[in-house]
Amino acid sequence: MDMTQSLQQTIDQLVCPGKGILAADESHPTIAKRFKAVGVESTEENRRLYRSLLFSTPELSRYLTGVILFEETLGQRDDHDISLPEVLSRQGIVPGIKVDKGKGPLPNAPGDMITYGLDGLAERLRSARDQGARFAKWREVYPITETNPTPLGISANAEMLARYAAVCQSEGIVPIVEPEVLIDGDHSLARCAEVSEAVLGSVFDALRRHGVALEYLILKPSMVTPGQAHGEVATPHKVAEATLQVLKRTVPAAVPSINFLSGGQTPAEATANLDAINRLKGNAPWLLSFSFSRALQGPAMETWRGLPAQAQAMQQTFQLRAKLNAAATMGDYEEDMEPAA
Ligand code: 13P
Repeated sequence: MDMTQSLQQTIDQLVCPGKGILAADESHPTIAKRFKAVGVESTEENRRLYRSLLFSTPELSRYLTGVILFEETLGQRDDHDISLPEVLSRQGIVPGIKVDKGKGPLPNAPGDMITYGLDGLAERLRSARDQGARFAKWREVYPITETNPTPLGISANAEMLARYAAVCQSEGIVPIVEPEVLIDGDHSLARCAEVSEAVLGSVFDALRRHGVALEYLILKPSMVTPGQAHGEVATPHKVAEATLQVLKRTVPAAVPSINFLSGGQTPAEATANLDAINRLKGNAPWLLSFSFSRALQGPAMETWRGLPAQAQAMQQTFQLRAKLNAAATMGDYEEDMEPAA
């Protein structure tokens, strides 16, 4: 199979109305923080156990087409000695791999960040592919302040995403391109829209410059919302209107799917906003779905708390969140589908 065929095959598997992607690719520091909040120590065994439970949740393939993994997970095995990527692919769920190496300050752009990890990327992708990965993820972040992101921050981060995406496609791996405009701060919805439009405009300019085939990538953006400290939570309708306006202005129709991150929204907010986006989408050309981490896993992790006796309840909680978000991709979610508080 040539590269284009393998890219197309992966896109066909990942892009499916009524389904989305789970991000389970938390780095060691991030999973340690999430585990600590529920009283679990982040050991290799606990990470293996937790992710084995997540991936063996009944009926997962009704709601998910793909799961993004952290490098360590690619090599881990479940209690039946089946590799965790294989646990997914046996269900028809495509394993993917986070390949960025985290972020640090961008010199000469105070307040902005840049992500590391281009060195040796092609080799790492080949090795991940040997372990079952068919797609990849790379995240750049954009903080909003009065002066951020700077023009340099916007262009440098776009360049990184485009270079990463081009390397992925040259290796037959579908890139998830994730420019995350951060929710932190007290900015308005309008300010988030303005920044998001500049960021996405610049990302697609860079993708074009680097010859990336838009048909073979998935965009993973943040939704357009007011900052978390803004004081006012926008209605799902307002979030949907602003998000769709920005996307329609910036994302070419050749892109097959837009899978949002949840970015610190509560699980119910993220689901309601995704639902509103799909109700309002009109003739928008892309699938509008999810690639959530916290909004899918949060309630499941709280139910689990590392207790073996909670394993089944944890899977039920996770399955429900996956099901509600799958309904939201069709605009079929209703608030009364939420579990009673
Ligand atoms: P959240 O849904 O928790 O924002 O995570 C998505 C993700 O993969 C961040 O890179």
